[in-house]
Amino acid sequence: MAEYDFDLLVIGGGPGGYTAAIRAAQLGLHVGCIEREAALGGTCLRVGCIPSKALLESSHHYEAAGREMAAHGVVTSTVQLDLATMMHRKQKAVKTLAGGIAHLLKKNKITRYLGHGRIDGPGRVVVTTTEGDVALGAKTLLIATGSEVAALRGVELDGDRIGTSTEALSYPEVPRRLIVIGAGAIGLELGSVWRRLGAEVVVLEYLDRILPENDAEVAAEAQKVFTSQGILFQLGTRVVAARTDGQRCVVVSDGAEPIEADRVLLCVGRRPCTDGLGLEGVGIQLDERGRIPVGEGFRTAVPGILAIGDCIAGPMLAHKAQEEGVAAVEMLVTGYGHVNYDAIPSVVYTEPEIAAVGKTEEQLKQQGINYRKGVFPYMANGRAVVLGHTWGRVKVLADAVTDRILGVHIIGHHAGDLIAEAAVAIEFGASSEDLGRAIHAHPTLAECVKEAALAVDNRATYI
Ligand code: NAI
Repeated sequence: MAEYDFDLLVIGGGPGGYTAAIRAAQLGLHVGCIEREAALGGTCLRVGCIPSKALLESSHHYEAAGREMAAHGVVTSTVQLDLATMMHRKQKAVKTLAGGIAHLLKKNKITRYLGHGRIDGPGRVVVTTTEGDVALGAKTLLIATGSEVAALRGVELDGDRIGTSTEALSYPEVPRRLIVIGAGAIGLELGSVWRRLGAEVVVLEYLDRILPENDAEVAAEAQKVFTSQGILFQLGTRVVAARTDGQRCVVVSDGAEPIEADRVLLCVGRRPCTDGLGLEGVGIQLDERGRIPVGEGFRTAVPGILAIGDCIAGPMLAHKAQEEGVAAVEMLVTGYGHVNYDAIPSVVYTEPEIAAVGKTEEQLKQQGINYRKGVFPYMANGRAVVLGHTWGRVKVLADAVTDRILGVHIIGHHAGDLIAEAAVAIEFGASSEDLGRAIHAHPTLAECVKEAALAVDNRATYI
């Protein structure tokens, strides 16, 4: 009889967890995966990236039908919003994709447990299911429990009018006024959705800028375009309280008059999800931000327990968790694995999209790295003109001595797709000259990337 039930038990069925489980099974391990929600896919699939992108797409069509189609000679008479159908389409996408993950686990012979997993000692997990506790043993445990919305003191979340992104993905009607607390990716994406559908959107942000993780120049451009679209920004505004008052919500900020709205969306960041995991019992101490410290091979302080994704340090992004999941199990099985933290792209799926990989100009200045900068505007790109999306630019930052690409920042239509080649370039250690010499199909938006790379050496052709 085997000593353990499994070679590897993964706690958490989100992008990090299910990807790690699949890769481990491909490498020949006997794998179990514990997830407390009925649907696999984690926050990203159930109440995050996927449903928000579905609503961004639908709301974009609604706005384009009303405002943009006429410029193409497509005349619509009345454009109506059927919010219930929009929400149904979103849920259908979630269901299809969650079913796809369940299928992949089955195909890879991964045993799925529906319940809350608690570590009961090295190699031991108790899963609390609706039918009672199940005790499991595994040679290695991998924690991939992700993150949850961070609360803000004074903001009374009622799970309805004052809520988080989860509620904002399912409002039953378009709010007349929506107050968004925090100008990060979530606030701007969901703020865009509800603005397009007709809400007055007011974004309250503590800092004097939006998108704190992005390149400052790009963030300033983004603020200009979102303002022109109708989003109202109040920067330098620290929210200290929010409460419901009948059907209304009241939001109070430091040194400002209270503001009223129909709904409030709190999105001031996320915190690692480690409650009830039994970490203290096995001797894992969290760091000052509640994250699980890991060393080489994603090993925690306790032998046989690994951790990846949002519950450890680094950007809280699905693809970062997926790469860490793959690297962790590859290191475990083969001794080799790799995550290049300098080449993790990020995308904000507004219109225009905002995408980045590598270092910002501020980081390069802070680190005293001499760089050269090449910028190319969408306006000078043929494809952008015929698409009717000329607002945007690509910025390439390269080392002043070696020409190695250090960062690429794009704001513009389909920036999220264009950033992929920049991530590959950084991964391969490419120079701006490499990117500038690579042939890009004409006419494509990707030519903006090539031209921005050429612009690093002042040799862009079309500006
Ligand atoms: P965030 O950390 O990106 O932004 C939160 C903002 O709230 C900050 O600008 C902060 O200054 C502000 N803030 C904090 N306290 C405040 C207060 N009292 N009053 C006013 N403003 C205050 O957080 P967000 O948008 O909630 O996203 C959470 C995580 O999820 C991030 O790591 C983000 O990268 C990730 N995410 C990424 C997406 C993407 O890549 N498309 C989409 C959604 C989330």
